[in-house]
Amino acid sequence: MSRHAPARRDRTGSLTGVEGLARALRTHEVDAIVGDRDIMVVRLKQAEDELERSRDQLRALASHLLSVRDSERVAIARELHDEFGQALTSLQLGLAWLARNVTPEQRTLLAKIASLSEATTGLIRSVKLITIELRPGAVDELGLAKTLRSAARDFESSVGIPCRFRTNAAGVPFNRPAAIAVYRIVQAALTNVARHARAAHATVTLMTSARALTVTVTDDGRGISRKLVDSRGSLGIIGMRERVLALDGTFTLTGSKRKGTTLKVRLPLSRVVLEPGPAA
Ligand SMILES: Nc1ncnc2c1ncn2[C@@H]1O[C@H](COP(=O)(O)OP(=O)(O)OP(=O)(O)O)[C@@H](O)[C@H]1O
Ligand SMILES: [Mg+2]
Repeated sequence: MSRHAPARRDRTGSLTGVEGLARALRTHEVDAIVGDRDIMVVRLKQAEDELERSRDQLRALASHLLSVRDSERVAIARELHDEFGQALTSLQLGLAWLARNVTPEQRTLLAKIASLSEATTGLIRSVKLITIELRPGAVDELGLAKTLRSAARDFESSVGIPCRFRTNAAGVPFNRPAAIAVYRIVQAALTNVARHARAAHATVTLMTSARALTVTVTDDGRGISRKLVDSRGSLGIIGMRERVLALDGTFTLTGSKRKGTTLKVRLPLSRVVLEPGPAA
């Protein structure tokens, strides 16, 4: 029997067996195999790059949409304040004039005028509240820490759930976009506590350390489920996360059944504090 028996081939014509392999190693077939693997590695890398690119584009789109929404809110707030606010104020002044000028025969109208005036006062208050909700003007006027303290107080009085606020960042000069992002995140988280948590207490903290700003909103309610945290339908949560990612921060939201929910946002201090101006 010859020591050099012809190599066996399978149905596709490829060499089989040990000898086949040995021969393949000496021939171009191995080049083809290695070549295929290289092509696959390159394709995989291209697909990864493509994925990365579209993720970046989606992130940029989300952050653009959030800023468009913010400026639209400011525009609506201005319209509301200027149009409705003014109209309601003149209505109220008109009603006050009527009340002062009714003749003794028209006295029966006084009760009606009083109730219309009360309704108008209620509307003016609502417009003011909606305007505050839409426009984070307080952030500019009071600074972030005071605005959050007042948001916690408003939450407590309007929702009826005690809300503690703690901070060590009272004098920290935050830049405007970061302060507005943090305010919007806390606002959305507190709205979630009011609407979904069934909590007895809530706490908001705003703490700075040497490198980071950490913001937390916790409640002792029913606890958000993992599924809802990651759900594509949780648009409020997606919005909060996008605001954080736009500032290179980290976002964690965890729930523990019947023990509550904790939102923790950590932002690099370099992205949130005001750049020091040029030296004089
Ligand atoms: N603090 C919380 N405690 C318990 N469940 C929560 C809490 N926050 C959120 N959830 C759950 O997660 C879901 C998603 O929240 P998300 O804020 O994304 O949406 P939403 O509040 O329902 O609507 P919106 O878009 O108006 O914010 C809520 O519907 C609720 O079921
Ligand atoms: Mg929500």
